[in-house]
Amino acid sequence: MSLAVIILAAGEGTRMKSSYPKVLHNICEKPMIHHVLETVNKLGPERIVAVVGYKAEMVVKAIEGVEFVVQKEQLGTGHAVSVVEGVLDSFNGDIMVLSGDTPLLKAQTLSNLLDIHRTTDAASTLLTAKMDDPTGYGRIIRAPSGVVTAIIEEKDATNEQKLINEVNTGTYCFDKKKLFDSLKQIDPNNKQKEYYLTDVIKVLNGSNEKVVAASANDPMETIGINNRVQLAEAEKILRREINKKLMLEGVTIIDPDTTFISAEAKIGKDTIIYPMTFISGNTKIGESCLIGPLSRLINCRIGSFVTIDSAVVRESTVEDYAELGPFCHIRPGTLIRKGAKVGGFVEIKKSEVGQNSKVPHLSYIGDTYIGDYVNIGAGTITCNYDSVSKHKTVIEDGAFIGSDTMLVAPVKIGRGAFTGAGSVISKDVPEDSLAVERTEQVIVDNWAKKRRRKKGISEG
Ligand code: UD1
Ligand code: CA
Repeated sequence: MSLAVIILAAGEGTRMKSSYPKVLHNICEKPMIHHVLETVNKLGPERIVAVVGYKAEMVVKAIEGVEFVVQKEQLGTGHAVSVVEGVLDSFNGDIMVLSGDTPLLKAQTLSNLLDIHRTTDAASTLLTAKMDDPTGYGRIIRAPSGVVTAIIEEKDATNEQKLINEVNTGTYCFDKKKLFDSLKQIDPNNKQKEYYLTDVIKVLNGSNEKVVAASANDPMETIGINNRVQLAEAEKILRREINKKLMLEGVTIIDPDTTFISAEAKIGKDTIIYPMTFISGNTKIGESCLIGPLSRLINCRIGSFVTIDSAVVRESTVEDYAELGPFCHIRPGTLIRKGAKVGGFVEIKKSEVGQNSKVPHLSYIGDTYIGDYVNIGAGTITCNYDSVSKHKTVIEDGAFIGSDTMLVAPVKIGRGAFTGAGSVISKDVPEDSLAVERTEQVIVDNWAKKRRRKKGISEG
């Protein structure tokens, strides 16, 4: 039996108070709807149809691998499903409907739901959940026999119905024909003046069709995101899951509540992550590293036995045994080779720092190649920009750059060469030589003493 999944994503998400469609808000770095799509794809459905409407162009741009149907006016979830009827004309099979705003659902839960639907041969099978706080959700109304007879939206519920804590998760399987036939019988006579998809259950029940309810094992997986408080809750749940998985794989996370790791990140065993650390994108970290506290790694490749303390590292590679920080900024396109050190208040951009080389303090290194065993003195700056273009600096193996050297690019410092502290180096320095660029020091004997006398300052 084939499967078509309809993802409802046309609503504005008024309660988000946002200029962006609700389903594009991020949870653990990815738009809500991406989470839903990833899960749905695991079921291998023949068709996936996304219903878009509010700022549809933005949603269409953000997702791929689905068919889109535009719901011009957002007249309710029932109306949203009915606009899909045409495109599924030739489709024969089961239909699953879910919302773009339930991002934590697991593929296993959905496939269980589908199994139950198929084995019971129901007209509709809904995924319900028992919530500690059911506020905002549609409540499941059951007959004394236990059969689900209707779903009542919070806004239409009586005080007594509001006490029911079994809720509709907005996730359903349907028999195609019965779904679209029932949708023609619903009306917008409710508090919100909308065509509710949930009313299909009442219609099916009224025509003696079989409605089955399957309860989710983990209610938190089914939460719907309607406002930013729920958005933060979902983020927290997902973050905990990511951290837990890594810990079980052998990563030490000192404080999982203040450690933010993307689902794509890969971290080797015995690496220790200190608090307030953000590991984003598809960052890969090797084994036995010390990362953080207060660090941010975005799309990086980090080797093993690396130390990164209070640093920001973006789109760069750091090889084994390197040490970064505290307080450095490694910008995109940088390669820090094995055993190299980058210390406090150093910014490096699109550069290579060779094996065992050191940039320990207060430097800017941009568009630069640094060979192996190079020492860059404190305060050294590569002057790589002439207001029109960027130029390269090359510092060969074993060179020693004196403190506060200005390297005016393009410039090359030969193998084993030295630059004197405070020099402005604008010409290439041949290997093994010294370049000094500064005026001779002048000594004026007793100058200070004479001054004190002149000003009447006591000698004491
Ligand atoms: C809906 C259910 C409620 C359930 C809850 C679970 C209805 C009437 N209510 O309520 O029973 O407990 O989900 O989270 O279905 N959408 C459209 N077009 C529209 C309206 C909505 O595509 O015209 C989309 C939204 O973008 C959203 C989804 O449908 O992704 C659900 O809509 P929402 O307004 O969030 O419904 P809830 O009030 O949460
Ligand atoms: Ca919702």
